[in-house]
Amino acid sequence: MQNIEVYQKSFINYLEDFATEREPVNLYEPVNYILKLGGKRLRPVLTLMTAEIFGAEAKVAMNAALSVEVFHNFSLIHDDIMDDAPLRRGQQTVHEKWDINTGILSGDAMLILAYQLFEDYEPKIFQSLAKLFSKTALEVCEGQQYDIDFETRNDVTIPEYLKMIEYKTAVLVGAAMKMGAIVAGASEEDQNLIYDFGRFLGIAFQLQDDYLDAFGNPETFGKQVGGDILENKKTYLYLKTLMLGTNEQKTRLLDLMTDHLVSEDEKVKQVKMLFNTSGASEATQLAVKDYTEKAFGVLERLNLSEGKKQVLKQFGIQLMNRRV
Ligand code: IPE
Ligand code: IPE
Ligand code: MG
Ligand code: MG
Ligand code: MG
Repeated sequence: MQNIEVYQKSFINYLEDFATEREPVNLYEPVNYILKLGGKRLRPVLTLMTAEIFGAEAKVAMNAALSVEVFHNFSLIHDDIMDDAPLRRGQQTVHEKWDINTGILSGDAMLILAYQLFEDYEPKIFQSLAKLFSKTALEVCEGQQYDIDFETRNDVTIPEYLKMIEYKTAVLVGAAMKMGAIVAGASEEDQNLIYDFGRFLGIAFQLQDDYLDAFGNPETFGKQVGGDILENKKTYLYLKTLMLGTNEQKTRLLDLMTDHLVSEDEKVKQVKMLFNTSGASEATQLAVKDYTEKAFGVLERLNLSEGKKQVLKQFGIQLMNRRV
């Protein structure tokens, strides 16, 4: 086992060799731009780490790890178009730097590149990876559609929200880990358990993402703070305000959503105040903890040494406390 920084470094080296200049420039430049923009590299690190946990060398999992990161970055290009987001990792989003059509086609190319990265695996592994990838990618689309549908709905429930974030975000975290287990030849039982561990961590991760979207530090968060509020996203913060707030707070929140006279800054400021005073912020932090603990519960059922379980636990704790 190596520490997270070592996995990150070796992954980034591999990525540098992959993201080289190709023609047509207007197709591949945005691909390389987003891939080299940085980011936490959370998913590929999980793939490499899981492969080692199940007894393989990390390098065997490198193409699978890269596939997951390329897919993730493709989903970000299209997500930023759909969410009308100006900033990604502290820089201009692809559709702002180029245009929407470029974002669509470069994104499409990345989805194909992600599949292509499985080609060098032997047939049985290839089949498992491709099957998992197709299921996951389709679920991400479903989650993204729910997310958009919810923007214009006022009756979204917490279970609906949880399903939406499980699909748009958590299944990919689970799949990243399962791919590591697949290339390492882990038992099907262990593959499924590590998938569930990742899935629960992924739900916690998206809950924290919702929290940071409102309360993150604009200097370091890398995305437009308050973007979810401006897009009328039905986040956990929002739904909990409608559950926990006083009648006055609930009415105010609903009014702010349809008020076209209030400035963007003022809307964000007032909604954040409602998130805090209603108790929704606190409830969100509790939910992050809750889902992280659900993930740790799955760990207990895995056939792994205590030391390896501790490594995975540390990772979960770090994610729960992340600010970026
Ligand atoms: C952003 O993912 C999209 C979500 C699922 C919240 P990350 O927060 O992992 O983004 P990067 O790759 O580190 O920039
Ligand atoms: C992103 O959810 C999920 C996918 C990209 C599939 P968000 O819309 O919350 O992600 P950010 O906040 O833009 O990173
Ligand atoms: Mg977004
Ligand atoms: Mg989105
Ligand atoms: Mg977000």
